[in-house]
Amino acid sequence: MDLALEKGDITAVAADTVIVNLFLGVQTPGGATGAVDRALGGAISDLISSGEFKGELNEVAVLHHRGGSTARRVILVGLGRREEFTLDRVRQVAGTAARTAREKNARTVATIIHGAGIGGLDPEEAARAVVEGTLLGLYRFKGIKSKDEEKELSKFLLVERDASRWGAVQRGMEKGQILAEATNLVRDITNQPANHMTPREMARLAQEMAQKEGLECTILDERTMEEKGMEALLGVARGSQEPPRLILLRYRSSLPGQPTLALVGKGLTFDSGGISLKAREGMENMKMDKAGGAAVLGAMQAIARLKPQVNVLGVIPATENMPDGRALKPGDVVRALNGKTIEIISTDAEGRLILADAVAYARQLGADYIVDVATLTGAVRTALGTQAAAIISNNGSLVTKILAAGDRAGERYWQLPSYPEYREQYKSSVADLKNVGGPAAGTITGGLFIGEFVGDSPWAHLDIAAMAWGEKDLPYQPKGATGFATRTLVQLALGFVD
Ligand code: BES
Ligand code: MN
Ligand code: ZN
Repeated sequence: MDLALEKGDITAVAADTVIVNLFLGVQTPGGATGAVDRALGGAISDLISSGEFKGELNEVAVLHHRGGSTARRVILVGLGRREEFTLDRVRQVAGTAARTAREKNARTVATIIHGAGIGGLDPEEAARAVVEGTLLGLYRFKGIKSKDEEKELSKFLLVERDASRWGAVQRGMEKGQILAEATNLVRDITNQPANHMTPREMARLAQEMAQKEGLECTILDERTMEEKGMEALLGVARGSQEPPRLILLRYRSSLPGQPTLALVGKGLTFDSGGISLKAREGMENMKMDKAGGAAVLGAMQAIARLKPQVNVLGVIPATENMPDGRALKPGDVVRALNGKTIEIISTDAEGRLILADAVAYARQLGADYIVDVATLTGAVRTALGTQAAAIISNNGSLVTKILAAGDRAGERYWQLPSYPEYREQYKSSVADLKNVGGPAAGTITGGLFIGEFVGDSPWAHLDIAAMAWGEKDLPYQPKGATGFATRTLVQLALGFVD
């Protein structure tokens, strides 16, 4: 689908479908919606006065126009209450409208930039949000079907009449496209079945992306991991026929003397639980356990394009977790890269094991800040539901930065406490640590366990287990993999100051 800025008037644009909007409770539409209403002979006003259209958030009406040079189909989307309007609502209504257009067989669509006019939002930010909402909302996992006969839009135009805004709108559109394409790449990787998206395939994809975008990429195989002493990662991989990989991606800022931010993502391509086998019901969804690693891969693609002034190191430990005669067993002890020994209580608490080695390695490679992203615990769903991801951290100012980045990205995070007393829960009688801290505060102890391997580096852990996969369609998030955290990570790098 082509995406372009249309410098002109919404009533004169060459498109088969135009998208306009309405705040809740507005009786007489103004601006672009008013102009389209007049072109329609007052059809929008009629819908309002008859009470058929109120302007509730994501409410839609489809109208038709006969004759003239204007579009033949008009999609009216509700913006909700004016006082409650936000950039995230721009993403939502853009997604809703774009999906409606596709469903109605539209080919060429023109939209006004929701919020830039009467909504009072910054035009660059509004244009960015419209593009994000549109591209994210239109996402579909192509899957592995022998035939794909789904409808597609061919052209999408953002209409702006005011020449003084064209520069800002263009910049916002480019940024929005880069962020949405990265998120959709993450969704594709995460949705992919485990027999297709193996650790080796994930590594190949990372290499391909790095070459295209001008990033450095290094792949560690089992032998190198063994030489370095990554027994925790290798231990998880032992039960699988698929060899593990550790993917390293490096972006170097053109500005000298900048710190290095490490983004570390859990790339568990399939989590059966290992010898501590999971229940069969719903196990097919455990192909999504690579969502954190995928988010890092996608974020690195966007970072390569947007070129922030901070060095960024992407680290993705990729492996399966399978039961087998050679697999790790409860009671086994492994030694992680930083020398700490770990008693395995549950082989299903494997994410923290592979991340232990990965964050320790990021530190060896010179990371100044470490952010890890993982579908780590089922417990986070009990704590926060599906409205926010959890943060566990040893550094308040890093948390502040992540919260601010999440806010700009339209992704919610909530910090959980990290009192030192929680650490008592994962003390072991035979090793330095054990990999499960009991049923209480599972998300916190899981996160703090990873923190045992970052030394004194400022570090934050994002538990996205309840956010990475959606059970139903949302305005700009079709069900399945969500790509959660990708845009936050990019935004964090863009605004990063020591
Ligand atoms: N990958 C799972 C966590 C998960 C659960 C992700 C549901 C997405 C949806 C993780 O490896 C796991 O199995 N965690 C265990 C930890 C426990 C054994 C301490 C869990 O949450 O049950
Ligand atoms: Mn597990
Ligand atoms: Zn897992």
